[in-house]
Amino acid sequence: MHKSSVFDCTLLQFSINHRAVGNITAINENCEIPFAIKRVYYLYDVPGGESRGGHGHKALQQLIVAASGSFDVIVNDGKVKRTFSLSRPNVGLLMPPGLWRELDNFSSGSICLVLASLPYDEEDYLRDYQTYLDWKFKA
Ligand code: TYD
Repeated sequence: MHKSSVFDCTLLQFSINHRAVGNITAINENCEIPFAIKRVYYLYDVPGGESRGGHGHKALQQLIVAASGSFDVIVNDGKVKRTFSLSRPNVGLLMPPGLWRELDNFSSGSICLVLASLPYDEEDYLRDYQTYLDWKFKA
């Protein structure tokens, strides 16, 4: 049994360096977020209203930020589903490993920025929901 639940997800609010010419938000590993950043990736050019990312991760921790625009992150631990609507570049969803997640309702032009605790590894993915449940609730 892999114990993380949707209640372990946290919305983090990062500080903003305000300037008349624009804002800056900085995220440092093991400071504003509790892991070392091994990878950064971002989703962009997602057609408005599109969905992505129905999968789980065995070990990956992630921070998900709407760097531009907005979208919803639906997290599911096999028992409970929660939806987080992200729309501010200084707010991030911190996700523990072991959850199923989907991304939904992308506004056109949005950018989904992900800071990840591990390099890309297909072995860490649970691509099929039944496979996820079997993994999640095995003894
Ligand atoms: P994936 O995480 O499966 O995205 P989604 O579930 O939203 O469709 O990524 C799609 C493909 O992109 C994946 O098959 C391989 C590639 N990819 C990388 O090469 N490196 C990465 O860090 C990520 C996230 C994806």
